[in-house]
Amino acid sequence: MLILGIESTCDETGASIVKNGNSIISNIISSSVNKHKKFGGIVPEVAAREQLKIIIPVISEAIAHIPHAKIDAIAVSFGPGLQGSLLIGVETSKILSLVWNKPLIGVNHLIGHIYANWLTNKSRNKKISINFPLIALIVSGGHTDLVLMQDHGKYKWLGGTLDDAAGEAFDKAGRVLDLGYPGGPQIDKLASTSTINNDKFILPRPMIKSNNYNFSFSGIKTSVINQTNNIKNNQDKIKMAIEFQQAVTEVLIIKTLKAAKKYQVKSILVGGGVAANSYLRSEMKKESYKNSYKIFFPEKNLAVDNGAMIAAAAYYNFKPIKIINLQTFPGLAF
Ligand code: KG4
Ligand code: ZN
Repeated sequence: MLILGIESTCDETGASIVKNGNSIISNIISSSVNKHKKFGGIVPEVAAREQLKIIIPVISEAIAHIPHAKIDAIAVSFGPGLQGSLLIGVETSKILSLVWNKPLIGVNHLIGHIYANWLTNKSRNKKISINFPLIALIVSGGHTDLVLMQDHGKYKWLGGTLDDAAGEAFDKAGRVLDLGYPGGPQIDKLASTSTINNDKFILPRPMIKSNNYNFSFSGIKTSVINQTNNIKNNQDKIKMAIEFQQAVTEVLIIKTLKAAKKYQVKSILVGGGVAANSYLRSEMKKESYKNSYKIFFPEKNLAVDNGAMIAAAAYYNFKPIKIINLQTFPGLAF
């Protein structure tokens, strides 16, 4: 089965053809991130205007070698996301579904991030053996959630952030450290390419002992801001980046493992842009192996927004929307 996955919830516009829910045939992503850099964050109106220009070229490239007669269904992210961006992806998908006469599947963007873990491509072509029940940790620019999955389509939300998302905290800390937008990849680079130790900064680990699966990251960010006067040179920046990553990672790991233990799961999946973070990847792997859980991360380029993860989620949760019901647009949600 070939599914065309379309993603346009934030600054990326993605279209991808995925075979049988895991094999990537094409995956085209265009990002307007450079247009937002000078503002220090995403400007929704700018993102939507760029998407209006680029969505058809992106889809055309993704289907360049596949006649549309061979596509079995169209899947689209229907939220959460920026209203203008969503409109462009969803309306384009509705029209394609109508003129090509293909089923349309609405996919919750966050579930898409989970399903990035089922994707394979040339460099990740080993058989993926994810076992249920599993805990999924979603760490993106807009969300931080822990979800229990008993099977495909069976989601139980266990908890999430009470304030900033993990990615948002990375981006705000990056701004304080003057690293530009988005801060996540910059902090990762700064902290992982240096051999110096952090002997200077201490940040809090909010809610690490709380008896639930919620998170709070705004206090870590505030603490970075409060210590700015002590960041005097590049070495200090690196030390702060190291401490910041450790603080966020520690909280994420403790809560994820706590949920894994409580629900006696077999696998842990991590998804969303922050899943590209090298320190989180290595520490989470270490702790999961220690506790005998199978741990999965998407390939780094598939952790951030893309159409392939939307197609994969649609394949494993196939619930087409009747053209007649397109106004209501029910989709996959948890
Ligand atoms: O999932 P995503 O592409 O978009 C949303 O759905 O929000 O996530 C974007 C977020 C940004 O906050 C970005 O800074 C963060 O993911 N991110 C990272 C890394 N790469 C992207 N954070 C930490 N380390 C990284 N390597
Ligand atoms: Zn995302």
